[in-house]
Amino acid sequence: MRTFPEGFLWGGATAANQMEGGWNEGGKGWSVSDCARAKFDVDVKNYEKQNEITSKDIEEALAHPEDMVNYPKRHGNDFYHHYKEDIKLFAEMGFKVFRMSIAWSRIFPNGDDVTPNEEGLQFYDDVFDELKKYNIEPLVTMSHYEPPLNLTLSYDGWYSREVIGFFENYVRTICERYKDKVKYWLTFNEVDSIIRHPYTTGGLIKDRFPNKNFEEVCYQAMHHQFVASALATKICHEIIPGAKVGCMITKLSYYPMTCKPEDILKSQQMMRNIYAYSDTQVFGEYPSYLLSYYKNHDIHIHKEAGDDEIMKKYPVDFVSFSYYMSSCVAEDETGIEKTAGNTVMGLKNPYLPSSEWGWQIDPIGLRISLVELYDRYRKPLFIVENGLGAKDELIDGKVHDEYRIDYYRKHFKCMLDAIIEDGVELMGYTSWACIDLISESTKQMSKRYGFIYVDVDDYGNGTYDRYRKDSFYWYQKVIHHNSLDFE
Ligand code: BG6
Repeated sequence: MRTFPEGFLWGGATAANQMEGGWNEGGKGWSVSDCARAKFDVDVKNYEKQNEITSKDIEEALAHPEDMVNYPKRHGNDFYHHYKEDIKLFAEMGFKVFRMSIAWSRIFPNGDDVTPNEEGLQFYDDVFDELKKYNIEPLVTMSHYEPPLNLTLSYDGWYSREVIGFFENYVRTICERYKDKVKYWLTFNEVDSIIRHPYTTGGLIKDRFPNKNFEEVCYQAMHHQFVASALATKICHEIIPGAKVGCMITKLSYYPMTCKPEDILKSQQMMRNIYAYSDTQVFGEYPSYLLSYYKNHDIHIHKEAGDDEIMKKYPVDFVSFSYYMSSCVAEDETGIEKTAGNTVMGLKNPYLPSSEWGWQIDPIGLRISLVELYDRYRKPLFIVENGLGAKDELIDGKVHDEYRIDYYRKHFKCMLDAIIEDGVELMGYTSWACIDLISESTKQMSKRYGFIYVDVDDYGNGTYDRYRKDSFYWYQKVIHHNSLDFE
């Protein structure tokens, strides 16, 4: 029998901004995600346009606090009011770990407040206590697309150096408060994503920087996040003995379309773009190829004295990542079909099937990713997001999602191969998302990922009742046997 390592951390992943709802309750302030508008005529082949947010969009969002239809993250799946029921269901599946994020604006409603909001702190105390009841370890992301909106409006988001100080204050507050309850932490979700969606990740709005090179603005903000991440690691280790802090990257994978050396070179270059961010957080310094990119593109990052030392001194303990799909690249793209991926476009791989949203399903790519990341870093790995967004149908209280089981079965087999045959050290796995929630890229509810169906549609209509899908029972068996060999 091929089994996963003893103590393997099986579980599920979520994020406050896509799940909680209760967006203006309990003293919570506005976060950037509360202004993320639904695009009902969603075009997955045009992600770039979808991620564009202007100052006018924000004005409109602020003018309509009652609008839950156009701003679906305001209601999410209403975990804020259902957390006890949801955690009970996670426990029923046998979860060992639950990945969630803390909404910064629940703790510091404006980001720059001097004192934290007690009601917000108490909410997460209650969530952690509920998890503890079932021996489920929380894995907490400190920042998952949730910068308080005030930091955008008053400081220009992470472009401002001052935001590092506000983040430090927030991190110190949550580490002190939850030091006996949370051992596993991630600093920034997909820290690289600030380049693809600067507003959600970094609170950056392009039209606020009329005379600047916006790419430089994004990299400057990312520099501030790298320094903040290192400081968060330091704070976390000081306050919580034995705490483990990880970085989190989007593990996109690009294969060469052909064996033409030009295509291979292009895929190598693209892959370096992916690793640049984990290289920085693991080795504690910018890789030379990223510095060359800055130089060749006239990008000037302002560093303060001590930044390099801080980044070097406090690298992460483990490497976590999301993995959903792969795509191809070619030097000459003429005539090659394109397809959507995780907020990026890529070339279609003729050997792979795709999800209904065009993301190419590639379980072997997960094994390749594990091997590459482990060989590169020699640090424990954690898959903190992986899953299939699909249109599920609820019929008589049941969802027959064999397609999702098939997706997981193939990915889990490749994880086992990586652990047993390739010698990869894998700490755990949290599926995205263990319960249906609002999609980040499309803001749809109908792009469902969960083992648990939530009865809400794209317009926020529904009972919000929870239902176990067929995949719920299948995942329960995997966790129970710590193996796939029960089938
Ligand atoms: C990851 C994000 O990139 O992908 C999540 O960390 C997101 O927040 C997930 O939800 C799946 O993407 P989407 O666009 O289908 O929700």
